[in-house]
Amino acid sequence: MTEVQLQEFKLDPDSELRFEVESKNEKVVLEIKSGYAELFGTELVKGNQYEFHTGAKVAVFTWHGCTVELRGRTEVSYVAKETPMVVYLNVHAALEQQRVSAEQESTRGPVTMVVGPGDVGKSTLTRILLNYAVRMGRRPIYVDLDVGQGHISVPGTIGEIHA
Ligand SMILES: Nc1ncnc2c1ncn2[C@@H]1O[C@H](COP(=O)(O)OP(=O)(O)O)[C@@H](O)[C@H]1O
Ligand SMILES: [Mg+2]
Repeated sequence: MTEVQLQEFKLDPDSELRFEVESKNEKVVLEIKSGYAELFGTELVKGNQYEFHTGAKVAVFTWHGCTVELRGRTEVSYVAKETPMVVYLNVHAALEQQRVSAEQESTRGPVTMVVGPGDVGKSTLTRILLNYAVRMGRRPIYVDLDVGQGHISVPGTIGEIHA
């Protein structure tokens, strides 16, 4: 019997834990032991167990610092100080300002299109911006225009979700 790999990481404020699950039929369980952390804009609940399977590429970010435990085999796992999260937060802040002006002027809120090559993080950025908007009580609409790799329906279609 092989032992389950257990790793614990202490993250400073403004840093992220990145890990990848590559082994076949592997399951990695993540738990926040202390502090606060988020996964692509979704706040993680301390003590809950989050499962990731083969193929997962994950970044757990913390604004305030935290301790994270990983149970299971990861091919890559490291803490990164350089993260794009501050840039993402600035985009969110700019959009929020436009929403506030739109409310004041009774006009339409901002419409943002995210473009770029495949696998660079477009869907992930969109998810972060949607999560931040929802966490502030906004009701963003997500339109998935990627006909090659849609997140809503089958390839070849476009779709939208009203948060
Ligand atoms: N900031 C990030 N840090 C670590 N991994 C990321 C980050 N952004 C995206 N990823 C990972 O990279 C992969 C591709 O991201 P995705 O958003 O699906 O790209 P795209 O929509 O541009 O094709 C996914 O596995 C995702 O989890
Ligand atoms: Mg995508």
